Amino acid sequence: MGIIVLKNKTIVLGISGSIAAYKICDLVRKLVKLRAKVICVMTSSAKQFVTPVTLQTISGNPVMEDIFEETTGGQVNHIFLAQIADLILIAPATANIIGKLAGGLADDLLSSVVLAARVPILICPSMNKNMYENEIVQGNIKKLKEKRFIFAGPETGFLACGTKGEGRLLEIDKIADKVVEILKEGKIKKKDFLGIKFLVTAGPTREYLDPVRFISNPSTGRMGYALAREAQERGAEVILISGPTHLPFPEEVKVVSIKSALEMEKEVKKYFPGVDVFIGAAAVSDWCADKKAKNKIRKSERMMLPLVKTPDILAGLGNKKGNKILVGFAAETGHLQRNAKNKLIKKNLDFIVANKVKESFGKQTNKITIIDREDNIETYPFLDKKKVAFFIINKILSFFPLKR
Ligand SMILES: Cc1cc2nc3c(=O)[nH]c(=O)nc-3n(C[C@H](O)[C@H](O)[C@H](O)COP(=O)(O)O)c2cc1C
Repeated sequence: MGIIVLKNKTIVLGISGSIAAYKICDLVRKLVKLRAKVICVMTSSAKQFVTPVTLQTISGNPVMEDIFEETTGGQVNHIFLAQIADLILIAPATANIIGKLAGGLADDLLSSVVLAARVPILICPSMNKNMYENEIVQGNIKKLKEKRFIFAGPETGFLACGTKGEGRLLEIDKIADKVVEILKEGKIKKKDFLGIKFLVTAGPTREYLDPVRFISNPSTGRMGYALAREAQERGAEVILISGPTHLPFPEEVKVVSIKSALEMEKEVKKYFPGVDVFIGAAAVSDWCADKKAKNKIRKSERMMLPLVKTPDILAGLGNKKGNKILVGFAAETGHLQRNAKNKLIKKNLDFIVANKVKESFGKQTNKITIIDREDNIETYPFLDKKKVAFFIINKILSFFPLKR
């Protein structure tokens, strides 16, 4: 990340009364290092966890707390802050401030600034797992997400209250990355998939022969993860069923980890009835051992391995398609378009993304051809998989004419 990446950007950083407030000094330091102007606005509870003097010293700016505080030049604090901010970041965000914002309340400086602002608002919740899972809190988050509020985190892990679960403040580095993403790359995407549910499969599967050996392939999962992320960022609710990969889970996506094709089929069957769009981007192994050996197979000169076919997950869904949009991938070594078209018809897909094995597997980039049932063929140059995901998700949007 370049050192002056946030030059000339003003971030109004709202800090509310969560135990995670102690971590915010580090975030302020990072944002200042990226040359952002950071103005901290604390709730009254936040001052129980971190002192205004600390934040003032680290940010280099006065800390604001009181809506009725005297100001120079006769400006009204909350209107002034809302006007000078390029971004309002609330970290940590308590259940209380989230509830107040969802209800349109403005009973302190921070909530008043948010109501008066017309800039992006990034919220990083932090609270006890039960509080986070509480239906009312979830309802408030959903309501805000449907407006222009962007949520990052929380993460799952050990919580200050001694329990483990979802509710931990997103790591400080990741919050800083998100700020840069919003301010620098202008990545506030149009929420054109609000109300749409996606099921995406990604990565390879592993078909174990014995407790230590398996059949697999070099799929990294990057394409499926990029698709899940793009759909989520555009407002969709996304479930990602992932084979073993080294990738961090995309934020705000429900990830179900599996190993074998059979496990993937089981999870796909479970979630498929509740979704609107299915994208099969996983590289599912076509065979598995007829019988997995209980103990490690002893070494021998020659070895015969009886294999059987794994379930064809995509073809199974084609029969139950209904109004759902089905998207498949064809990774081919030859006759790209011909093989992809056959697969499109055989599996009753809406469109297929064809790519060559050597141009896609294990790579950061991909070169794709999209073929649909009307025989429209769109070819793209080599692009980063994130960009490829953008075009594939755009194609899906064309099946929802009212959302375009
Ligand atoms: C030790 C302690 C830790 C707390 N941690 C959290 C927390 O992590 N998240 C949260 O939502 N509330 C937490 N609370 C409760 C809030 O401080 C309380 O709801 C308060 O009214 C929030 O006010 P504010 O949103 O105006 O900052 C904690 C309270 C105490 C005493």
